[in-house]
Amino acid sequence: MTASKSLLEAPGTRTADEKRHPFADLRSSGLLNGKVAIITGGSRGIGAASARIFAASGARVVLAARDKNAIATVAKDILSAGGQAVAVPTDVGDPVSVERLVQQALDAYGRLDAAFNNAGDAHMPTPLADVKVEDFERAIRVNLTGVFLSMKYEIPAMLRNGGGGAIVNMSSTPGLNGVKGIAGYVAGKHGIIGLTKSAALDYAQHNIRINAIAPGPILTDRLKQLKNRDQVALAVPIRRIGQPEEVAYTAAWLCSEQASFITGATIRLTVEGWLELRNLNAPRRGRASRYPVSTGSRIDSGLALASG
Ligand SMILES: NC(=O)c1ccc[n+]([C@@H]2O[C@H](COP(=O)([O-])OP(=O)(O)OC[C@H]3O[C@@H](n4cnc5c(N)ncnc54)[C@H](OP(=O)(O)O)[C@@H]3O)[C@@H](O)[C@H]2O)c1
Repeated sequence: MTASKSLLEAPGTRTADEKRHPFADLRSSGLLNGKVAIITGGSRGIGAASARIFAASGARVVLAARDKNAIATVAKDILSAGGQAVAVPTDVGDPVSVERLVQQALDAYGRLDAAFNNAGDAHMPTPLADVKVEDFERAIRVNLTGVFLSMKYEIPAMLRNGGGGAIVNMSSTPGLNGVKGIAGYVAGKHGIIGLTKSAALDYAQHNIRINAIAPGPILTDRLKQLKNRDQVALAVPIRRIGQPEEVAYTAAWLCSEQASFITGATIRLTVEGWLELRNLNAPRRGRASRYPVSTGSRIDSGLALASG
């Protein structure tokens, strides 16, 4: 068995109710050979899966999140499977912390080629006028300011290489649609797409490509807390919830030379079957629904609740 294969099979990557995804059988593609990549929000969920897949694809990985034990565990798994990783405790909403993260990446590996700015947070679902100011500010601070600060310090490090690099920013389908009850999260995720387009234009001439991804429901801790997961799956055209690795592979590909002509784009994974969800959420005759017919807010409110 190669080191790369065992990276994909690192302990603790899957829970009992997760089906093994066929991607897990891929051997290293060498897609990111020689690259140094920062992954924020690498302590669990999509970020931890991405760290393993970036490392399996040949990248030296710099893991960032607030939970230092969790990122150290992911880094240890990668190292023991033959990959390269360091863990840097980071709060993406704090400029000093993010500047230190990038400096530690340079100290560890001497360069920066790629970043997956994935850290995110939400707030308790409630109509806008009832959103606590501190909850709104936290959602904006982590999702939007966090991506801004990450790019602010990552880009100069990439320019030090003589130009060239790739950044992927984590938006979400609520970054493309209005969603009831989670205004702060929606605003932050919309804002990430604007930041991405603008930064892509600013740095295209330096061959730094900057894209966003906008996944639909993905099976991480937030979604595992939802009782109506089957209904969530029904709202997805391919009738299942996505696996973290499916997002991770998309991010890794966008960071690779194979995506060399893509910048300023938002890759959507996947379109939602909102019309069907609307039927699911429709109030029964004679009975008021807690979730008035709208845009599939039940799913996204659930996501917000689980992660807030
Ligand atoms: N799961 C989905 O269905 C889905 C769908 C679309 C988009 N997304 C987006 O994908 C990203 C990852 O989602 P997930 O489901 O993997 O969520 P998750 O399991 O809740 O992970 C969130 C990650 O963000 C980190 N984080 C939160 N606040 C942070 C801060 N201030 N500084 C640094 N790191 C911070 C967390 O680490 P610490 O707590 O250790 O700091 C954790 O590693 C998020 O941006 C989310 O909005 C998720």
